[in-house]
Amino acid sequence: LRTIFFEDEKVKMIDQTLLPLTYRLHACATVDCLIEAIQMLRVRGAPALGAAGAYGVALSAIEHRKEPQELFYRHVVEDCARLARARPTAINLSWGVNEQRALLDHQEGPEETIERLVEHAKRIAETDVQNNKSIGRHGARLIEDGDSILTHCNAGALACVGYGTALGIVRWAHGEGKRIHVYVDETRPLCQGARLTAWELVREGIPATLVTDNMAGSLMRAGRVDKVVVGADRITAHGDVANKIGTYSLAVLAHHHGIPLIVAAPVSTIDFSCTALEDIPIEERDADEVRYCCGVQVAPSGVAAYNPAFDVTPASLVDSIVTENGIARPPDKRSLGALKP
Ligand code: MRU
Repeated sequence: LRTIFFEDEKVKMIDQTLLPLTYRLHACATVDCLIEAIQMLRVRGAPALGAAGAYGVALSAIEHRKEPQELFYRHVVEDCARLARARPTAINLSWGVNEQRALLDHQEGPEETIERLVEHAKRIAETDVQNNKSIGRHGARLIEDGDSILTHCNAGALACVGYGTALGIVRWAHGEGKRIHVYVDETRPLCQGARLTAWELVREGIPATLVTDNMAGSLMRAGRVDKVVVGADRITAHGDVANKIGTYSLAVLAHHHGIPLIVAAPVSTIDFSCTALEDIPIEERDADEVRYCCGVQVAPSGVAAYNPAFDVTPASLVDSIVTENGIARPPDKRSLGALKP
């Protein structure tokens, strides 16, 4: 499964707004189209956004290739800024853009620039898949035969270029023959768990049960959850974790019940420059996403609604952070610093 790729001078992606009922590719030939796709969550999930950002810069160079060199360079730099701002919380988006921005050379002609940017974006995408597999391999050490795992949102192949982070651990453990079962949180308001994680697990025949978000506490109390495994959108230098709204509630519940919370993310998700969890920008989305559920209005039109897309879980509630370079356990400045490339 490849969530996002580059073909015929277009960025192509699985349109995740249509899943699980319709599987369709969405193609973007312009930066405007890609920004719309990012903001509408056609492509979503931190590592996939990293690849989208990197491909977006290549797309910009293609769009402006006929312009005089100075203008070409200026417009690509402007597009870098627009792409990086498209969604604020997942650091991977600006990371992917900045990786490409660093390659720009105002003395180089458009065609050479395009070639370098496309190649580099492809390398970033391919590395993401390899990193996910390493995360899966490291993380599977924390999973025991017979474990029941609760996950939130979608940190699977669809949230990355392929394979997945949290679901990468699930995939690897399943592949090793461990008998595991996954509880999939529905993840309101946009139901990434029900629509996307459940889709991936059903497709692969990994035993899974869908639950609504408010069932987690009673499942834990009944002893039916052994581990909580989630992804991350940004991790501070101290190990505080921004992830899909609802992760913090799960972390508090897991802590109360003595259940380890495992976070899976590539090192590119760690913002080593961010030392205070309050400094993580939290995206606030349209309140209609709360008033509606999968296109159906579920609340009166006049009601106020609040829609932060992410929350932050302090490091003290996190058992371990699994990256492609190893595991930070417990996560703190020292253990995370040791994973820096
Ligand atoms: O708003 P989304 O769907 O982009 O949010 C995605 C998440 O919160 C994921 O858990 C996170 O990006 C990790 S993906 C490997």
